[in-house]
Amino acid sequence: MMCRAIAAEMTLSRNEATGLMVEYGRGAAWTKHCFAVADAAASVGSVLGCCRVIDQGFLWSAALLHDIGRYVTHDPIRHGLAGYDLLTRLGYGQEAHVCASHILFGLEACEAARFGLPARDFVPRTVEERLVPLVDFLIENDTPTTLDRRFASLRERNADNDFFLSRLDRARERAETFMRQLNEEIGEPIEAIVALQGRRF
Ligand SMILES: [Fe+2]
Repeated sequence: MMCRAIAAEMTLSRNEATGLMVEYGRGAAWTKHCFAVADAAASVGSVLGCCRVIDQGFLWSAALLHDIGRYVTHDPIRHGLAGYDLLTRLGYGQEAHVCASHILFGLEACEAARFGLPARDFVPRTVEERLVPLVDFLIENDTPTTLDRRFASLRERNADNDFFLSRLDRARERAETFMRQLNEEIGEPIEAIVALQGRRF
């Protein structure tokens, strides 16, 4: 593993984020999902850029790294914690927050503490932070999908995970509310923008 200095609030360049994904992902199949989410988030971000200021660099890097914890585990919750731990250790606090807060579109303090995170809310707050879980929910593996299909798939794949299932409706409500808001703001469906980007993957 490469050695890096730890700073309080470094942000990653696109090249550095790609380097981390290469280093920890080692070409595994799950990294395709990460690149697909990053590119689709960038597409949505550039359309949204007509209406508000978007930090495109942070959006792409955070979207790329949201699932980096899968180098440790594919558990539907714990991979977010593993990514949070890794990026916090490396000094990338903002991207680390996205790793934790993309889980179920946000964890409340008591839920975070239950899984060993600091006992505070890990909820996506900025538009960039909220775009990551939304677009994540619109990409199954590396293929664009809809919220309907993705949540049905998540429910099926995690049928034995009571905690995850008990929070899934809340996650869906958060994703739908945010997507509706963006659809109205830009006058076209986010699902269509992601589907169009998917043809370029
Ligand atoms: Fe994830």
